[in-house]
This record gives sequence, C-alpha cells and structure tokens, in this order.
Amino acid sequence: MTASALSRIHYAKPSITEREVSYATDAAANGWGEKCYDYIYRFRDLLKAYLDVPYVIPTSSCTGALHLALAALDIGAGDEVIVPDITWIASVSPITYLGATPVFVDVLEDSWCIDPKAIEAAITSKTKAIIPVHLYGNLCDMDAIMAIAKRHGIAVIEDAAEALGSVYKGRKAASIGDMATFSFHGTKTVTTGEGGALVVQSPELYEKLLILEGHGRDPKISKQFWCEKIGYKYKMSNMEAAVGTAQMERIDELVARKREIFAQYQARLGKVAGLHLNPEPEGCINSYWMSTVVFDKSISFHREELLADMAAANIDARVFFYPVSQFPSFASKPENVVSYGLYDRAINLPSYHDIRDDEIARVCEVILAYLGKVSHA
Ligand SMILES: Cc1ncc(COP(=O)(O)O)c(C=O)c1O
Repeated sequence: MTASALSRIHYAKPSITEREVSYATDAAANGWGEKCYDYIYRFRDLLKAYLDVPYVIPTSSCTGALHLALAALDIGAGDEVIVPDITWIASVSPITYLGATPVFVDVLEDSWCIDPKAIEAAITSKTKAIIPVHLYGNLCDMDAIMAIAKRHGIAVIEDAAEALGSVYKGRKAASIGDMATFSFHGTKTVTTGEGGALVVQSPELYEKLLILEGHGRDPKISKQFWCEKIGYKYKMSNMEAAVGTAQMERIDELVARKREIFAQYQARLGKVAGLHLNPEPEGCINSYWMSTVVFDKSISFHREELLADMAAANIDARVFFYPVSQFPSFASKPENVVSYGLYDRAINLPSYHDIRDDEIARVCEVILAYLGKVSHA
C-alpha cells in the first residue's frame, strides 16, 4: 500500500466528546453576567480535588502560570533560577521576562528529567528557585529535589505541564513543590484549547497571587477598578473552562488511555535491544503524556532518516526537545553531556487518545524496519 493510501497518524489530538461540546455550548449561550465564572470555578475545584491541593488558579497558559509563580516569589534582576536543559522553552522564558537568569543543568539519562546532583552543584547565593520539569509524564526525583531546596531555603515550582495524572510515591505531580503549573494546550491529556493552571500550597502566596493575577487589584479592597500595584492578566475564559470541566470529569479515562497506548508500545518495542522507553520507577505512576523512544548510543541512529521513514508512512513523529541552552538566545552549555547527547537520539511517538491498535502497530513496524537497516555496535 502507498503512504497516501494509509490513514494519517497524528502525534497528538484531543479527545472531544458530546460532554465537552455541550458544556462549551452552554458556556457560549448562557455563561455570561452572573454566570461568567461558573465553569472556571467548577474546573478549578475539579483540579483541586483531583490533585488534593489547597489552591488552584486557572490561567490562560502554563507560560503565564510560570510567570505569575516567579513574580509571586519576587524574582527579578540578579536572581538565578535553576532549570533542566531539556524542556520546552516555556519553562525558561518567564524567568527572562522578569530579568532573572536561567541556569541550565543536566538531566538524568534514565528519566530525562533534571539531575538533583546537578541542581546542588549549580546553587549559588543568587539562586531563588528550582523548576523541575516532569518531562513527557516522567517524574522528577522529587524527594531529592525537595530536600536540596529545603536545605538551601529555595522555592520549588514543579512544571507539570506534561504530567497531569502522574503520581510520585502516592502524591500527584504538582502537589509536592511550593507551587506547580499545568498546560491545557490542545496537545495535552486534558485540554481547554489554550490554558493552564497554577497550583499553590501556602495561603500567603495564594493571597499575593490573587492580587498579582488581577492587574494588582486587591479582592479585599472594594473600591472598583482600584489597582494597588502593577499585576498581570493571564485568566482562563469561562468557555475554555467549560471544555476543561468536561475533560476533568473524564480524567481517569483520559489518563488510563495514555497508559494503554504506552503499554502497547512497550509490548512491541520494550524488549528490543537498544531501545529505551519512558521509565516508571518503583512507587511512581507515569501518565505517559507522550510515549517516547530513545535509541541507544550503540545504534548508528540518525533522527532525520527515521523521521523521513515515518513521513513516508504517513506518520507524524515529533522530535525530542532540544537543549534550551542551544538556542541562540542563550550561551550553549555542552558540558550538560546527557542533554546534549540525548535529544537527537529520541523521538516522541503518536500518543493520542483515539489512536487505533493497528496504527500503533504501523508506527512500531517503521521503527523496527529502520533498526533493521542501521548498524549496531
Ligand atoms: C514542559 C512545558 N512547560 C511549559 C509549557 C507551556 O505551556 P503553554 O503552551 O500552556 O504555555 C509546555 C507546553 O507545551 C511544556 O511542555
């Protein structure tokens, strides 16, 4: 069969049912005036209950949520924030919006997440926060990270954009750090189209954030349109929250499906020599936002060749994130040897809710055929 005769396999696509459509329709038709926050509050409360956290602020994006979190910590010029070199740039940009400096540290070879030892080595008197990123649903070593942060009096903001539903030793990702953020972009396990959320643990930070997130208006001051300070505007709309409410009512189904998809990749690729898939360490549950495969150094792997084979088979594959320090806006840091050695040996696999078993099989066939063509040390 020619590629064009095969159905296109996308790498991400949301699962939208009658429930999402009816809530969105209701919000568009009726969610105005005194009802204009109803779905926002429902969505917020569903997230709070699911994560078992005291405070959640829905936002227009994860980028905005990270900006708010850093601002609430009064981070600014002269301060440093430690980030993993491998992440999407959105984990890093908000640090620069505030004039602070991102300090890129290496990731671990097995989890692809920030290396606690590298965090410890990068701490200076200017370090104000650490942003561990739970990459593709994989979990950071939160016990080690929280212990380092406590020892040095540094805040932890978990970037859980990709990890809704992952569980670290009985606690949901995003419920462990001082603050945490989510993305509900259209590619995510739960989507609102665009959107995000900020999770906050302390009442003091929450109070401060309520002022910051409303253009500096203090909810305790009744003077209308009175701004105490310069703030931000990263609010989620009621219509976006309507879609999110329906999605959160289906969260167990959405996460379970991600795990089923990964299990199929695992069954077909997990035992193949030289291939490494997302890990699930003892005591953790991975929500596998993106099933991902890393090719061992022993294989003469060329990412572009595999991507071309995928494209020829009408399959969308997605490149693993580049080290952010490789981008022209930053000074490169090849001493982050794991990050620099990892990114072009890996690809994300199509992982969307409605992918069929035969489509997963097709993806695996292309990978196995590619492995058959290249040399192994
Ligand atoms: C790790 C990570 N952080 C932050 C973001 C930013 O999310 P948003 O696009 O909602 O701002 C993303 C989005 O893809 C992400 O993957």
